[in-house]
Amino acid sequence: NMIEKKFYITTPIYYVNDVPHIGHAYTTIAADVAARFKRLEGYEVFFLTGTDEHGQKVKQAAENLNVTPQEHVDKLHQRFKELWVKFNISNSDFIRTTEERHKVVVCNILQTLFDKDEIYRDSYEGWYCTPCERFWTEKDLQESNCPECRRKVEKIKEHNYFFRMGKYQAWLIETIKNDPHFILPLSRRNEVLGFLEKPLEDLCISRPKSRLPWGIPLPFDEEYVTYVWFDALINYASAVGYGSDEELCDKWWPADLHIVGKDITRFHSVFWPAMLMSAGLELPLKVFGHGWVHHRGERMSKSLGTTIDPLEVVQRLGVDALRLYLVKEIPFGQDGDFSYERFEEPYNVDLANNLGNLVSRVVAMAEKYRNGRLGPVTSESGRLAEVAEVAVRKYSEAMERLALHEAAFAAYTLVDAANEFIAETEPWVLARDRSKSDRLHQVLSELVEAVRIAAVLLLPVMPRSAEIILERMGDPAVTGERRFHEATRWSTQKERILVRGPALWPRAVKGKAEVNE
Ligand code: MSP
Repeated sequence: NMIEKKFYITTPIYYVNDVPHIGHAYTTIAADVAARFKRLEGYEVFFLTGTDEHGQKVKQAAENLNVTPQEHVDKLHQRFKELWVKFNISNSDFIRTTEERHKVVVCNILQTLFDKDEIYRDSYEGWYCTPCERFWTEKDLQESNCPECRRKVEKIKEHNYFFRMGKYQAWLIETIKNDPHFILPLSRRNEVLGFLEKPLEDLCISRPKSRLPWGIPLPFDEEYVTYVWFDALINYASAVGYGSDEELCDKWWPADLHIVGKDITRFHSVFWPAMLMSAGLELPLKVFGHGWVHHRGERMSKSLGTTIDPLEVVQRLGVDALRLYLVKEIPFGQDGDFSYERFEEPYNVDLANNLGNLVSRVVAMAEKYRNGRLGPVTSESGRLAEVAEVAVRKYSEAMERLALHEAAFAAYTLVDAANEFIAETEPWVLARDRSKSDRLHQVLSELVEAVRIAAVLLLPVMPRSAEIILERMGDPAVTGERRFHEATRWSTQKERILVRGPALWPRAVKGKAEVNE
C-alpha cells in the first residue's frame, strides 16, 4: 500500500426501510470508537457507513406511500445520516447503493465475473421467501416455513444466474484457518468454519425483474436484477473507487476491518471473500462479528414494541453517556442488554457522575488554592503516575484486540484511582497548613495529570466530553496535534492553566456538592 499507516474501517450499510434503533447505533458507535482510536494513533483513517437501498421491502413501502422507490429512499436515508451526526460519528463517507458511483462498480464486477465464466445461467427451483428475499432448499424449511422469519414460502422455478462460490470452499477454509485473526471473535470464527464443513453451494445472484424490479439490472441480461447481498457487499469497494478511481482504491483497499453484527458475519467472511477472490481483489484483513443488544433480555422488535429509539435515549441521557454505556458495559463480541432501568439511574449517576464530579472538584480546588494555575512539579511522581501507566498500557493492548469494553474499563480505573486519591490525600486539609504547600501543589498537579490522561483515553469513546475535560485541564490540543503515545505520557513538568465550566452531566450531578470540604 502507498501509505503505511492507513486504516479502512466499515459498518454494515443499513436497510433504509428500517427505523434506526439502538442496535444500528451500537455497531456504528463501536466502529467510531475504533476509527477514532486509530486516528489518535496517527493513522490516516477512512471510515465508511451507509444505507442499503434496493430490494422488495423498499419497493413495497414506496408503493404503499404512492411514491417512487427512489423518492422514498432519498427521504429515508436521511434518518441514518442525521442520527450519525447527532451521535458524533466521525465517518469519512456515507454510501448509498442507489448512487451512480456504486451501481457502476457493481456492473463492472458482474461483467468481469460473467466474462470469466465465474457467473453462469441455470434453471433453479426452490422455496422462495419474499420478505427475506431468498431461496431455501426443502431441508432448510422449518415446518414448511422460512427458517429465518417463519413465514410462508413459495415454490418457484425459474432461470437465474449463479456465482461459482462452491469452488472456493477449500480455499476459504484454508484462508480462515491460516489467519486466526481474520474472523473475530473466536466463537464466530468457529461458527463459520462449522458452516464450511457442509458443501458450499453456488450462489444465486439474480432475481427476475418481473418479480423484483427495484435493483441493479445485470449488465449482461436486462431481464434480471442483482441479488441484494451481491449488490450490498460491493459498497465497500465502490466507496473507495474500485474500477473508477485507481489512486483512491490503491490507497485504501483492502479494508482493514469490517465491523458487523453476528447475523451477517457469514455474508462477510464467506460470500464476500469468495467474490473478491473471484474478481482478483485482495481480501479484507479482519471481520469482527459483534453480539446482539437486547432489550430487557429480549430481542428488539418493532411489533413487540421493544425497539428503543436512539433519539429518545440521547434526549434523556446525552450522547456520551449512551456511547460509554454501550462500549463499556457490553463485552464487545458478546450479547448485551440495554434498558432504561439498567442505564438511567445506576449507570448515569455512578459513572458519568464519577467522572463529572472529579473534573469539577479538581478544577474547583485548583482555582481555590492556586488561582487555577499549576506550575511545574519538581518532586518525584507518585502513585497515580503508576496507575496511569498501567491504565494506558492495558488500554492500548485492549484496543489492539478490539476489546473495546476492556479499554473503556482501563480508562475508568484511572478515574477511580483519582477519586480515591482525593479521599486519601484530603487536599482541603493540606490547604490549612502552610508547611504542606509543596505537597498540596504536587497532589493537585498529579490529579490534573491523571484526569488529563483519562480524558485522552476516553477521547474515542466519549469525544465531546473528553474534549471538554482536556480543555478544562488546560491541555486542549490532543486531537490531530499530538499522537496517542505522546499525549498519554505522564508529565507534571508543564504549567497548566485550568478552565472552569459548567457541570459535565448536570442531570447526574444535580443536588451534589461540587467540592467536598
Ligand atoms: N443491509 C444489510 C447489511 C449489508 S452490509 C453489506 C443489513 N442491514 S440491517 O439494517 O439489517 O443492519 C444489520 C446490522 O445492524 C447488524 O449486522 C448489526 O450490526 C446491527 N444490528 C441490528 N440490530 C441489532 C441489535 N439488536 N443489536 C446489535 N446490533 C444490531 O443486514
